[in-house]
Amino acid sequence: MENPLEKSVHCYLLGKGGVGKTTAAALISVCLASENRRVLLVSLDPAHNLSDIFQQRLNDKPSAVTPNLSVMEIDQARWIKRYLQDVRTEILQSYRYLTAFNLEGYLNVMQFAPGLEEYALLQAFQHIAARYADNDFVLFDMPPTALSLRFFGLPALSLVWIEALLKMRQEIIRKKEMITRIKLGHLELEKDKVLQRIVKRQSSYQALCAGFRDPQQTHIHLVLNPDTLSFSESRRIVQTLKGFDMPVAQIIVNKMVPDSPNTRFQCDFADIPISAISRAVTPLIGLHSLQRFLDEQGDFLEKVAPMYCG
Ligand SMILES: Nc1ncnc2c1ncn2[C@@H]1O[C@H](COP(=O)(O)OP(=O)(O)OP(=O)(O)O)[C@@H](O)[C@H]1O
Ligand SMILES: [Mg+2]
Repeated sequence: MENPLEKSVHCYLLGKGGVGKTTAAALISVCLASENRRVLLVSLDPAHNLSDIFQQRLNDKPSAVTPNLSVMEIDQARWIKRYLQDVRTEILQSYRYLTAFNLEGYLNVMQFAPGLEEYALLQAFQHIAARYADNDFVLFDMPPTALSLRFFGLPALSLVWIEALLKMRQEIIRKKEMITRIKLGHLELEKDKVLQRIVKRQSSYQALCAGFRDPQQTHIHLVLNPDTLSFSESRRIVQTLKGFDMPVAQIIVNKMVPDSPNTRFQCDFADIPISAISRAVTPLIGLHSLQRFLDEQGDFLEKVAPMYCG
């Protein structure tokens, strides 16, 4: 199956609350766009801040900020609703014979189910990755750590469930065949629609897993500040991602001041490239402030995300 995520490079800005994920995402995006790359910056964080940073009204469709840069903020409530609708349709199509099944009651409970946020987020991500694949870069400003990690872990976790479901379904088909052969031996068995749906889901999650694990396609930028708490949380993020086979591409130490204790980071994240963004003296709000800051820094991309140079 063709991987729908294969066209753009996907960059994720991840890290503890308030470290500067949104600001770093905006700076990198503006910088890449100024170098003639086509960039889409997407907020996957339900508490959006991109409209504040760009001082522009945004929604869940891309809005142009510069000729090469578009920005959007996903509407999480809409994606949850859409996800529930898809579940509803699938149940109706798969289990038409279950007339006694209280579907509406089930869906009323489903809307409070744990995991709904990350499934909805994953659907939004798949849609964006496929729909806007003509961009060179799609940057994702990520939600708080816990939700982000559940988002990255979801495809692999879902595959475990799907494998168990496949086995169950195959067993059901085997039993069904046995029964129909005994009772209606001459009838051809209809191809199993439920099995087909499970297999379709399986290949979709396999594609997501492959995309997340592909270092050419997925670049995780872990943002932290030169302080103990963001440092500790970052170490846990690196460990968790390692468990998903997802390496961190770059650590960005943001809000650096000349006497920040940066040697500790270099030791503890020995195998991950580290870069720094200095603490701005004026607020990084509005395109002009971002551009001014980038001009002051000089060679920002080379210093902060050298993998995108050249
Ligand atoms: N390099 C910097 N210099 C000065 N101020 C900065 C810098 N980076 C970020 N800030 C400021 O720090 C605050 C938090 O930044 P930002 O909103 O980008 O963080 P975040 O990690 O996205 O936060 P959240 O977890 O709430 O989404 C903002 O006021 C922002 O302007
Ligand atoms: Mg933010």
